[in-house]
Amino acid sequence: MRSPATTSWHSASWQTKPAQQQPVYSDPAALERIVAQIARLPPVVVSWEVEALRGKLAAAQRGEGFLLQGGDCAEAFADCESDTIAKKLKILLQMSLVLLHGLKKPIIRVGRMAGQYAKPRSADTETRNGVTLPSYRGDLVNRPEFTPDARAADPELLLRGYERAALTLNFVRALVEGGFADLHHPEYWDLGFVHHAPLKDAYQRIVRSIGDALDFFEGISGRQVHEATLVEFYASHEGLHLHYEQAQTRFIPRQNRWYNLSTHMPWIGMRTAGLDGAHVEYFRGIANPIGVKVGPAMDAAWLQGLVTLLNPQNQPGRLTLIHRFGAKDVSAALPKAIEAVRQTGQTVLWVCDPMHGNTETTTGGLKTRRFENILKEVELAFRIHAELGSHLGGVHVELTGDDVTECTGGARGLTDQDLQRAYRSTVDPRLNHEQALELAMLIAEHSRNRRAAPRS
Ligand code: PEP
Ligand code: CO
Repeated sequence: MRSPATTSWHSASWQTKPAQQQPVYSDPAALERIVAQIARLPPVVVSWEVEALRGKLAAAQRGEGFLLQGGDCAEAFADCESDTIAKKLKILLQMSLVLLHGLKKPIIRVGRMAGQYAKPRSADTETRNGVTLPSYRGDLVNRPEFTPDARAADPELLLRGYERAALTLNFVRALVEGGFADLHHPEYWDLGFVHHAPLKDAYQRIVRSIGDALDFFEGISGRQVHEATLVEFYASHEGLHLHYEQAQTRFIPRQNRWYNLSTHMPWIGMRTAGLDGAHVEYFRGIANPIGVKVGPAMDAAWLQGLVTLLNPQNQPGRLTLIHRFGAKDVSAALPKAIEAVRQTGQTVLWVCDPMHGNTETTTGGLKTRRFENILKEVELAFRIHAELGSHLGGVHVELTGDDVTECTGGARGLTDQDLQRAYRSTVDPRLNHEQALELAMLIAEHSRNRRAAPRS
């Protein structure tokens, strides 16, 4: 049967559907001008990189790789600086090294970077002291200050966002290609910030062990391990602002398909995953590997609808389901989700986002997440997938290379009181570098234990 949804797609066909979470621009002609300008500018990524990533995700789907997707909840334009970008890259590389060592499979590194500028909000407006203004929707849309000027949606910001995405990825590419990410030289990624001694020692041991393994292999084979040691790095962001996504969506004649070239792997957020909505319409027509966030409200029919609409050909690596149920609900919700997808006969890559289902507010009014809940959700996700004959093929985390205090717990035992000290996020609380590295270590350690445990 031919579904009507498979006909008449083009990069602006989403405009015929209801679009959630879109800003209202007071001057639509100005918006159109900017979108046209971004459409003429060079792409941020190219189609063969996108295809390479899809191939790696297909391998992860078969259990031959593991996705590490991480970065800020929202990138701020002000944070587009060399130091912040390098630190974020370093923590992701460190985590990937630890995961490689523990999981013994290739780690696919994908940043929430170079385009993660737009945020979904629970309300369209915000009221303070009787004054109501549009909500802040991320630097791609408006500015956080509570004034009518700052909160007005400004189309120029789309262009600023495109430019920063390109600057960010340009720097990341240069670092990665310049040997910064070579496994022979993990000392380049030393952050000099891991002060917690046990964590630091454990990390150094892993680095030495990988160094020894490389030396050993190169010793017996008489050649340098180049291929395997040069790290690749990809970009991803929530494909939320559809005018921005549309602007960089191009038909590539050589591939005979449409690609979103603003990033390698866009994902659909939980609030915009409606089957009849504009986001699903837009995403179904692009050839990129895509993610979809899966939350507790998504029942079997909805999930099955997404899987068939977004990947009708069951193409390997095309669809990543990023579940984010929370430590409390994952045991009840995940088995149902796995079963629902199984009934479609399709294969997907399952990834756990242990952040967005575990957000809470302290008595002081700060948004936070407890490290123990984050770890617990990941652990439960690994176990549930294994018990049901499925497998968890990745994690999706919000983190920063900076020394912030936004999530509690971890080896240093951050408390609610500590949060005041260095709380910088304007949106969701992120793991700091130590907590992020510790999470990777614990995932690696537990998976070593699982492999060592006799099967029952
Ligand atoms: C996010 O990833 O920052 C986000 C908003 O997630 P979700 O759509 O899962 O709530
Ligand atoms: Co977030």
